[in-house]
Amino acid sequence: MSASKLSIIILAAGQGSRMKSRLPKVLHPLAGQPLLAHVINSARRLNPERIIVVYGHGGEQVPAAINGDDLIWVKQEEQLGTGHAVAHAMPEVDDDASVLVLYGDVPLTQQTTLAQLSACAADELSLLTVYLDDPSGYGRIVRDHEAQVTHIVEHKDASEDQRQIREVNTGMLAANAARLRGWLNKLNNNNTQGEYYLTDVTAMAVADGLKIKTNQPDSAMEVLGVNSRAQLAVLERQYQRQQAETLMAQGVTVIDPARLDIRGEVDIARDVILDVNVILVGKVRIGEGVYVGPGCVIKDSTIAEGVQLQPLCVIEQATIGADAHIGPFARLRPGAELSANTHVGNFVEIKNSVVGEASKINHLSYIGDSDVGERVNIGAGVITCNYDGAYKHRTTIGNDVFVGSDCQLVAPVEIGDGATLGAGTTLTRNAPAAELTLSRAKQKTVSGWKRPVKKSS
Ligand code: UD1
Ligand code: MG
Repeated sequence: MSASKLSIIILAAGQGSRMKSRLPKVLHPLAGQPLLAHVINSARRLNPERIIVVYGHGGEQVPAAINGDDLIWVKQEEQLGTGHAVAHAMPEVDDDASVLVLYGDVPLTQQTTLAQLSACAADELSLLTVYLDDPSGYGRIVRDHEAQVTHIVEHKDASEDQRQIREVNTGMLAANAARLRGWLNKLNNNNTQGEYYLTDVTAMAVADGLKIKTNQPDSAMEVLGVNSRAQLAVLERQYQRQQAETLMAQGVTVIDPARLDIRGEVDIARDVILDVNVILVGKVRIGEGVYVGPGCVIKDSTIAEGVQLQPLCVIEQATIGADAHIGPFARLRPGAELSANTHVGNFVEIKNSVVGEASKINHLSYIGDSDVGERVNIGAGVITCNYDGAYKHRTTIGNDVFVGSDCQLVAPVEIGDGATLGAGTTLTRNAPAAELTLSRAKQKTVSGWKRPVKKSS
């Protein structure tokens, strides 16, 4: 249950023309998720009764890209200003609710800041403001001689004196719904931009005798919006920095916090070392003492304690057992399940395969759709031929098998426990347990043979 009845309105209808993109601005990703999804997640953490998203530019692409049955979508066909946008959402809001207005392109606002802002009594209007060294472009907070807010003036409508004011409107505000509805009904667009300004409700609230409460975020980063790709990059680095700080505080060594990217939800235990240029995507769990080497990309995977990931491994939807050694240059694809103490070396690709404890696949191999037993040694260049052009087939390898270098295992095929395959074998039938199996033309020497030589003219 929410503490009070709270409805959150998120404005996301604007075009964002400075992004120079076919993609609507609010769908541009920050840490792998649309900007708007970050704002929605922040909104959800306040446990509101309703979240209403005002969309318009980009049309149905926007709701289609965002998950959530809890969201109410309201279309603003023409973007006639922030006041016009909020007015579109108001039919979805009950009179006795508090309304919090957020922007879909301002992704980094902290929960404490939003909680403070939305803790707004029925006889208050709560504004989130910030002091900027360069306030140009923003609406200015105008105060009287007793430092009480009287109104907000947009930069384009402001006098030279007003433009000196450094306290600016972030756009985020909270008010009682019935009051807000009344003010919005009275808005006009008699201003430089011919827009219905949400900011004009401030003067109306003052006229109604309400108290204007102003709140500030801990950091200006929290209220920065994205208008260009350069600003998007600034916020991305800020967000990544925060995540790195959080991990370090939890006992993870991050070799260079500026060279770590987390695009998802990670669960990383103590004494993990993340070397430079690591990218973690989706749901990634990493156990205690793991070393993740430079340039590893890990997506939706679970890595048990003590694993060593050498540089430049690409790991997706895989699980790795304790103390395994992987890489450098290993590729684990969906369904790769490596048991404890396995070794996977360079230029090895493993897909949809289970590899038993202490087995080694150290060089230049493709293992697909396979069950590999324990203590198996797979030599350099071994390939499971799992695809016949139409269907995929499985390869089953028992425990303690030795597969010589450069073998092709033509699936479906089985190798019994303790079997040995001679190097270069093309295995087309099952290999029995504990025997040596090989397919090889007899070696011969042609004596007296001469290499061809070029005739000189
Ligand atoms: C607004 C504020 C300004 C504040 C600034 C902070 C007004 C009149 N001005 O100005 O005081 O300093 O934000 O960034 O409110 N939007 C819609 N529908 C519309 C218009 C806007 O959904 O019809 C959305 C935009 O997508 C954006 C947000 O509302 O997410 C703000 O709109 P924007 O045009 O950027 O407002 P500013 O003119 O910058
Ligand atoms: Mg703006």
